[in-house]
Amino acid sequence: MYTILKKKKLSDVTNEMVLEAPHVARKARSGQFVIVRIDERSERIPLTIADYDRAAGTITILFQEVGKSTMQLGTLEEGDHILTCAGPLGNPTRVDKYGTVVCVGGGVGVAPIFPIARDLKEAGNTIISIIGARTRQLLIWEDRMRTVSDELIVCTDDGSYGRKALVTEPLKEVLEQRHVDRVWAVGPAVMMKFVALTTKPHNIPTVVSLNPIMVDGTGMCGCCRVLISGQVRFVCVEGPQFDAHEVDWENLLMRMQYYKDEERLAVEYWKEHRCRLEQAEQEAEEEKHRHG
Ligand code: NAD
Ligand code: FES
Repeated sequence: MYTILKKKKLSDVTNEMVLEAPHVARKARSGQFVIVRIDERSERIPLTIADYDRAAGTITILFQEVGKSTMQLGTLEEGDHILTCAGPLGNPTRVDKYGTVVCVGGGVGVAPIFPIARDLKEAGNTIISIIGARTRQLLIWEDRMRTVSDELIVCTDDGSYGRKALVTEPLKEVLEQRHVDRVWAVGPAVMMKFVALTTKPHNIPTVVSLNPIMVDGTGMCGCCRVLISGQVRFVCVEGPQFDAHEVDWENLLMRMQYYKDEERLAVEYWKEHRCRLEQAEQEAEEEKHRHG
């Protein structure tokens, strides 16, 4: 069992949790992920390790409530437990002294880009970070990103905070005006695709962290397969970070849509059952009060 030591609601749908997971914290490095299961009947949820504290034996995970399983995870509170937490999985970030590195984080992807930017900064790189969200309320970890960046550009799609732009707009300008040695990007697949298209004409090596559908996370099921330079690769064991210019984005985006109908049905079922459960609990509570 893994205890939730801290829970913070960063927006209506975004949760940050600190989990007691000493065996993961001991070995975790930036770029790696865990697969959690809430209980015996629960789906396996892959989540990037957004931070870790080896001394305290804890890891930080961050997730948006987008499907049934993440909605269920979002109902857990401090002191509650998660049944399993497998990891650290995947390969860590290849940290080196590259020179000037632009770190791009979109939406909840800001959390996984944070430890990557921190490691790259500690290795002596100059870090220009660009973070973005659809709107101010969804922007996360600006303060943390500032601590590991020499320069930080913040944008929102609707202009409610920072610059009104998608992250690729300031990225394009930085690439036109400055010498950049590497770009790292984490966020929704469509964002990473457009980051790749933005850096390609400048021929700047670009690394992305892919998040396809996963099941086992150990290279057995083949669910997370992607095409990299035309070759099948398994993200869970060979990634999650790949050269953005070699990713077959259309294939990845198509595969991520495979279970949309089932995902929608699972959310509807979950909401209906939760409502019934809450109603039954309320009725039981009222019955208790009636009988003193
Ligand atoms: P979002 O859709 O709100 O987008 C976040 C930002 O990405 C936007 O504000 C914009 O700046 C940029 N962006 C989006 N579409 C773009 C486009 N077409 N061109 C250029 N820039 C674009 O993101 P969200 O809802 O917070 O993200 C959720 C997604 O992120 C989920 O699909 C989740 O699975 C994924 N995610 C990926 C990783 C990973 O390791 N790659 C980690 C966490 C979450
Ligand atoms: Fe099964 Fe990667 S998740 S092979």
